[in-house]
Amino acid sequence: MKGIILCGGTGTRLRPLTLVVNKHLLPVYDKPMITYPVETLKSMGVKDILIISGGEHIGHFLEFLGDGSLFGVNFTYKVQKEAGGIAQALALAEDFASEQFAVILGDNIFEYSVPVPKKCGIVLKEVENPNRFGVYCDGKIIEKPAKPLSNLAVTGLYFYTPEIFDFIKQLQPSARGELEITDVNNWCLQNLDTEKIEYDGFWSDAGTFESLLHSSNWAKSRK
Ligand code: G1P
Repeated sequence: MKGIILCGGTGTRLRPLTLVVNKHLLPVYDKPMITYPVETLKSMGVKDILIISGGEHIGHFLEFLGDGSLFGVNFTYKVQKEAGGIAQALALAEDFASEQFAVILGDNIFEYSVPVPKKCGIVLKEVENPNRFGVYCDGKIIEKPAKPLSNLAVTGLYFYTPEIFDFIKQLQPSARGELEITDVNNWCLQNLDTEKIEYDGFWSDAGTFESLLHSSNWAKSRK
C-alpha cells in the first residue's frame, strides 16, 4: 500500500507562526510535525510516500525529508499550485496512487498504528469538542457542525481506492471555495465498501495553538 501526506493550506489558525514556516514543519515537542504522519504510515507498512504541498514550501520538505533513506521510506513530491482544499490536493495523487492507498493530513498525530481496512476506510475518534472536526453520525459526515449529533470526529487518516479520482473531478467547491474531503468521504460511505475504524489511542491534530501545545505535551510525556 502506498501513502500520501497532505501538507498544503495556509495555516491561518497558526498565524503568525505560519507566515514563514509551513505548518507541518513546526515543532511538535522535539520533531517537525510531519515526522509523526511519516511514522504512522511506516507503522502500517507503507514504504512509498507522496508529499503534497504548496510551491513556496515544497523545497523545505525536500531539505528535511530528502529521498527518504534516513527514514527508511521513499519520498516523492508534488506541488499544489493553489490552496483549493484537501480534496483538490488529493486529486494530484492520481498518477501516484494505485489499488488501495492511505492518505493522512500532515498535522495528524496518532499514538500507534491503525488497522488497515479491506478497501476504503475512515478513522474515527471520540472527542470532547467535535464541532472543530468532521463529525460522523448515522452513515454520514457533517463538516464542523454547530450542533454535533455525535462526539465521533473524523480524523485525518483515510483509506481509498482509485475510484475516488473520478468523483473528485466532478466535485463542486463548498461555500468556502474549497473541494472538501468530507464530500469525498460521504461519497465513499454511500458508494464504496468503506469501513469505520474507531481508534482507541491518542489522536490529535496540531492545527491550532491549543492542539499544537496539547500534542507537544503528549509527545513530551512519552519520552
Ligand atoms: C480537516 C477535515 C475534517 C477533519 C480534520 C481532522 O479539517 O476537513 O473533516 O475532522 O481535518 O484533522 P481541517 O483541520 O482542515 O479544518
